[in-house]
Amino acid sequence: MTVVTCIEDLRRLHQQRVPKMFYDYAEAGSWTEATFRRNAEAFAEILLRQRVAVDISRRSIAARMLGEQWRMPVGIAPTGLAGMQHADGEILGAQAAENFGVPFVLSTMSICSLEDVAARTRKPFWFQLYVMRDRAFIEALIERAKKAGCSALVLTLDLQVIGQRHKDVKNNMTAPPKLTLPNLINMATKPRWCLGMLQTPRRSFGNVVGHAKGVENLTSLSAWSAEQLDPTLSWDDVAWVKSKWGGKLILKGIMDSEDAKAALDSGADAVVVSNHGGRQLDGAPASLDVLPQIVQAVDGQMEVYLDGGIRSGQDVLKALASGADGTFIGKAFLNGLGAMGEAGVTRALEIIAQELDLTMAFCGHTDINKVDSNIFWRRD
Ligand SMILES: Cc1cc2nc3c(=O)[nH]c(=O)nc-3n(C[C@H](O)[C@H](O)[C@H](O)COP(=O)(O)O)c2cc1C
Repeated sequence: MTVVTCIEDLRRLHQQRVPKMFYDYAEAGSWTEATFRRNAEAFAEILLRQRVAVDISRRSIAARMLGEQWRMPVGIAPTGLAGMQHADGEILGAQAAENFGVPFVLSTMSICSLEDVAARTRKPFWFQLYVMRDRAFIEALIERAKKAGCSALVLTLDLQVIGQRHKDVKNNMTAPPKLTLPNLINMATKPRWCLGMLQTPRRSFGNVVGHAKGVENLTSLSAWSAEQLDPTLSWDDVAWVKSKWGGKLILKGIMDSEDAKAALDSGADAVVVSNHGGRQLDGAPASLDVLPQIVQAVDGQMEVYLDGGIRSGQDVLKALASGADGTFIGKAFLNGLGAMGEAGVTRALEIIAQELDLTMAFCGHTDINKVDSNIFWRRD
């Protein structure tokens, strides 16, 4: 039995336990994967200043995001098909987040539906929206998110077209997987995953099938998603979504200070500085690279969150010290989920919380809300 001490341990278990096509779907960037790698490298380049002889006996990593107090400023990012990494993945992720005390964002492209997750959690979660051409479906989806009690809408703006991830094309990735000979052979080596999948009825896109016009089964779903992503999406559509939703709105996928200013003008409550985990525009900088200029552009008038490349509590600390009001984890969450289901997600959160707390202490701080870029070591 592996003793799990870091996110990398969870990643290895995830790789062992989940069919290749879904593991590869999670651990991939677009084209050369330069941006995917850059997200992590940007964190690794920052060195921290060690301070001593400071009373660090009483410490707190609790922080507010979107007006609510959380156990730490780290939420779970929306990830499509999480219910293929582990049976009922989104329900387990939402439950782990709720018990731990951090926000959970459910993807439009989740396997478990909004209603299913709401029925199995006590506190509200956040819902991530992709705008599709079928606006009647989107309007109904926004209503469903309201009815499910979601407390914030995260509108993703960076997926009007899809960056090619070579592995998905080569693996012929579908949900549920096609039962081809190579897939069957690979799945035979993942008995724990297969058993879970056989025991759950949730194996397709729960928010879409049976709700979008003409999507009653899986064959039509793949055609539907390919033709439904809306390349015409504009700031007018953001205003339309905001008026239909009427609640707290977060815009995700902001990588440029001009766009951050437009987000501010749109009346959104927060932005997520994100390059989609390096899955969309390859050749873009890391989200950490652009964070300081975006923080400067919005000048404290809205909250700024960051995702991309966070694999440890140290990374969270570096993002916060660079000006983020909060952070999100995508792959670190999926690694926990794929490795050990709900217990794995809880373990990922515990690992990050402990690393964050101890690293903050080594830097001579006791309150996460007071950390700034003075904790960065500089040569001169
Ligand atoms: C497998 C996978 C699926 C994703 N699906 C979505 C999605 O449905 N909606 C969305 O807004 N972002 C999606 N993302 C992007 C994440 O929300 C987040 O921006 C990214 O994972 C952060 O980078 P990290 O994985 O390095 O933490 C996905 C990311 C991954 C890895």
